[in-house]
Amino acid sequence: MKQDIANIPRHVAVIMDGNGRWAKKRLMPRTFGHNAGMNAMIAMARKAKSMGIRYLTVYALSTENLSRPKEELEGLYNLFRKYFTKNVKDLYAEGAAVRVIGDITALPQDVQTLIEEGVKNSPADAQFFVILALNYGARAELTRAVNAAISRGERVEEGDISSLLYTKDIPDPDLIIRTGGELRLSNFLLWQAAYSELYFTDVLFPDFDEKQFEKAIASYSGRNRRFGKI
Ligand code: IPE
Ligand code: IPE
Ligand code: MG
Repeated sequence: MKQDIANIPRHVAVIMDGNGRWAKKRLMPRTFGHNAGMNAMIAMARKAKSMGIRYLTVYALSTENLSRPKEELEGLYNLFRKYFTKNVKDLYAEGAAVRVIGDITALPQDVQTLIEEGVKNSPADAQFFVILALNYGARAELTRAVNAAISRGERVEEGDISSLLYTKDIPDPDLIIRTGGELRLSNFLLWQAAYSELYFTDVLFPDFDEKQFEKAIASYSGRNRRFGKI
């Protein structure tokens, strides 16, 4: 495929928001929106890989989302079950690996087991990584890092903090995309986002297709990242 975007980010992170509103507009239950969102997520991963992006992080469940109604959470867990039994196999076949950030111990035991297997069975030589943020919250992540540092009993440098985060093996996101029209980060990658470029769109996540993704990458590729320099 013709590649006409000059500057491809190495790591793109996506706040996949708007599934519930997408379903509501269709007079359907919220879970219907999450199902559509998962299909959009799979298509987005394929697109990201084809564009030469190496890391794609997707915010699928925040620490705060755990207080949503039981039926909605059960619908999400069913999607995770499906993803980690079926969809990951297609990912592996395409040479991609799956990683997870967040505290999965709060999820149902069978979902935890599927997630662990999904990570473990990923190809060792992968060139593309899908990182799922599950029961992820940046404040919880930083609190955990601070406690780990305290138990070491030594002063920490910035690099030490990075190495205590869930993302220790993953470069900071170059671009953070949020769909669904809200202009906030909602506890996503607060440390790692220090110099990320931000892209907000009103498009609800189930409608965020490959063209929309390409548009976000094109916007990124035209940015001037100064990192505080002149
Ligand atoms: C984002 O969509 C997906 C999750 C939080 C799991 P929402 O479920 O927040 O959808 P809206 O924002 O209510 O439309
Ligand atoms: C952020 O969306 C979390 C995910 C996309 C998983 P929310 O819908 O939970 O965020 P708020 O509540 O609008 O800030
Ligand atoms: Mg939302």
